[in-house]
Amino acid sequence: MIRLQINPAFNDLLQAHKLGSYPQIMHTTLGETIEENELRDVHRLDLNGQNFYLKRTRSEKASSALESYSRLRLAHSKPYKEMLQFRYLAQLSFNVAEVVGCGEELHWGIPLKGFIITREVPGEDLALVYRGADEDRRRSIMTGFGSLLGRLHDRGFFGSTRLKDIFIDGDPLDSPLLTLIDRETRNPYPKPASAKRILSRLMFNIRRQTQQGEIFSTNEWRAFSESYCRSLSSHLEFEAESLLRGILLLVGPVNTI
Ligand SMILES: Nc1ncnc2c1ncn2[C@@H]1O[C@H](COP(=O)(O)OP(=O)(O)O)[C@@H](O)[C@H]1O
Ligand SMILES: [Mg+2]
Repeated sequence: MIRLQINPAFNDLLQAHKLGSYPQIMHTTLGETIEENELRDVHRLDLNGQNFYLKRTRSEKASSALESYSRLRLAHSKPYKEMLQFRYLAQLSFNVAEVVGCGEELHWGIPLKGFIITREVPGEDLALVYRGADEDRRRSIMTGFGSLLGRLHDRGFFGSTRLKDIFIDGDPLDSPLLTLIDRETRNPYPKPASAKRILSRLMFNIRRQTQQGEIFSTNEWRAFSESYCRSLSSHLEFEAESLLRGILLLVGPVNTI
């Protein structure tokens, strides 16, 4: 069985480039290869001067399908789950990459492979911008990141979010636009946001960021904690100073600037 969803606004453009059907999209060699391995690839497509990203999986884990069915949810491929997450977030007015199309192939209810096409988000990778930024801009980036992560957690979206999953458009000191680009997640649906879950998922996110080399100073973590706490609903009553202490204990010694 094939599930295919094409955003009607892009139907003609895709058809004009022989990308109107599931097999055409799964087999196309159009565009520049951004990433490729035995499990997946990412292509950057230029269609009549507009840029898009095509992410495809070449195989999916059957265990992930079984996990979904055991939770009484439909099983989906990774790209399809990413599309669902983008859709939820867009409905809640988060800035996310616009989904142009998405599809997946299933056999006896088990996803085999799939794709998602998104429109190119303006700006640059926030992790790269952070690396090249001065002290003030770095702090500002962490304020923006804290605020975005706080809003996501408050709404029950706990998928891992690192700076590299965000694009920034504009000067970090001048209210830049932050847009989520990479929403790959095991569970695309929102979960109830209890204080306990928020804290454990925040700490999990920070541990992952640190393991992957996103390391910040104490002052940057302070800016993060303050804006993260401000973004949570008041009934959750997180206190920025104690959150900061918890984060610093978790990430270990960092420079004290
Ligand atoms: N909609 C988009 N706009 C701009 N750049 C994108 C977009 N989608 C993907 N990219 C680029 O392609 C890279 C890989 O895509 P991503 O969605 O992060 O996949 P992965 O799961 O491989 O990390 C990103 O780091 C980014 O540079
Ligand atoms: Mg990525």
